[in-house]
Amino acid sequence: MTTPKKLFIKTYGCQMNVYDSERMAETLGGEGYVQTEVAEDADMILLNTCHIREKAAEKVYSELGRLKPLKAAKPDLKIGVAGCVAQAEGEEIMRRQPAVDLVVGPQTYHRLPQMEAALRQGKKALDTDFPEEDKFEKMKSRPKAKRAPSAFLTVQEGCDKFCAFCVVPYTRGAEVSRPVDRVLSEARDLASRGVREITLLGQNVNAYHGAGADGSEKTLADLIWALNEVEGLERIRFTTSHPNDMQDDLLQAHRDCPKLMPYLHLPVQSGSDKILKRMNRSHTAESYLQIIDRLRAARPDILLSGDFIVGFPEETEEDFQATLELIRQVNYGYAYSFKYSTRPGTPAAERAQVDPDEADDRLQRIQALITEQQQAIQASMVGRDLNVLIEKPGRFDGQMVGKSEYLHAVHIDDSTAKIGDIVPVRITEAKRNSLAAVTRE
Ligand code: SAH
Ligand code: SF4
Ligand code: F3S
Repeated sequence: MTTPKKLFIKTYGCQMNVYDSERMAETLGGEGYVQTEVAEDADMILLNTCHIREKAAEKVYSELGRLKPLKAAKPDLKIGVAGCVAQAEGEEIMRRQPAVDLVVGPQTYHRLPQMEAALRQGKKALDTDFPEEDKFEKMKSRPKAKRAPSAFLTVQEGCDKFCAFCVVPYTRGAEVSRPVDRVLSEARDLASRGVREITLLGQNVNAYHGAGADGSEKTLADLIWALNEVEGLERIRFTTSHPNDMQDDLLQAHRDCPKLMPYLHLPVQSGSDKILKRMNRSHTAESYLQIIDRLRAARPDILLSGDFIVGFPEETEEDFQATLELIRQVNYGYAYSFKYSTRPGTPAAERAQVDPDEADDRLQRIQALITEQQQAIQASMVGRDLNVLIEKPGRFDGQMVGKSEYLHAVHIDDSTAKIGDIVPVRITEAKRNSLAAVTRE
């Protein structure tokens, strides 16, 4: 018997990359690779990269620089770059770092076995096509392997929105939805392997319009209702949504669908209509707030999260104040804020940039407000009766950690709780980044 080859994958960026890395590991499993957590032990190292901000993209090159000596010590080691930097920079990566053997864009992962074979023959491999076929259908899975209780499932990829700051439409390509039956069979398979909670992923997941069994187009709400029937599956989430695709049937699903969790990530980016227009978002602050009102009417306890960019070209202090005002009005359970990063090839890159010190200052102020809201909402959970999906043992003996309906990390001192259980609890304390709870009878 040959000893299995070892694969080390490092994942950057969004949840879609996390899902892709899992699928790549399974595909290369079919070529005799087992995963390792130790880069030094690996026969192949894959960096699954993110191009969203300059810092994220540059990290890849410093990481490659660190890996180079490993290859000097072990000439058979193969180094690959996957993900959005691979798509955006292609061959340039091999020019900048000749230790790289493989560059593979997000839409061609199903061709990894052929590429791996080329590497074994001492060749280099590069594939950044946008082929027609559904890559996930062609990628292997290990049907019986046990899974953690919470899993991602990509149902939609790509983006046709072209926000003026964003690389995603270029790195992931046009919007495509997977057919309902394929999503359902993957969800049933995950449930049979121990998964209780599925987060449906897409760059614009609420624009989902996959083909149903009868050939007609189905919405994300239709898909959620179909998943609601999957035995063993207890919780459904989805991310990331765009305000312009928040249709009524999705609001109704938040009201009526028992397995759909009361949490929604709905990025708005800015509270200034002038900036929203320049961002090409095609919604206003007001229309966003109206959606939030309708959501809360449908599901009063829904927890909201959002993304914000500060220092977008031509953003004034007044524009920034409008963003703070919107945040105050919404009251977010979580929010992610970023300093605008100029991305090559995007329309906003050509415009007058905000002074970097000013942008830093705005970032600090927005983060202070967000943290304040986040902590107040966490504190408001104390005394509430919630349910926790147990994910892993905690840091202390006898402690278990999981997630509430609202995605807060909750730890309980109950060693009888098993991974995958959904445990009724009462929240007793709010800590900085988590909640403490006792189990209810
Ligand atoms: N599809 C999602 C988000 C994709 S990227 C949506 O439409 O909202 C995740 C977040 O990164 C974005 O919401 C945005 O806040 C941030 N982002 C994207 N491009 C950026 C850039 N050039 N500079 C700073 N932040 C950026
Ligand atoms: Fe990027 Fe905008 Fe598409 Fe989101 S909707 S992925 S921010 S272009
Ligand atoms: Fe980054 Fe690509 Fe995701 S750019 S955020 S890894 S879609």
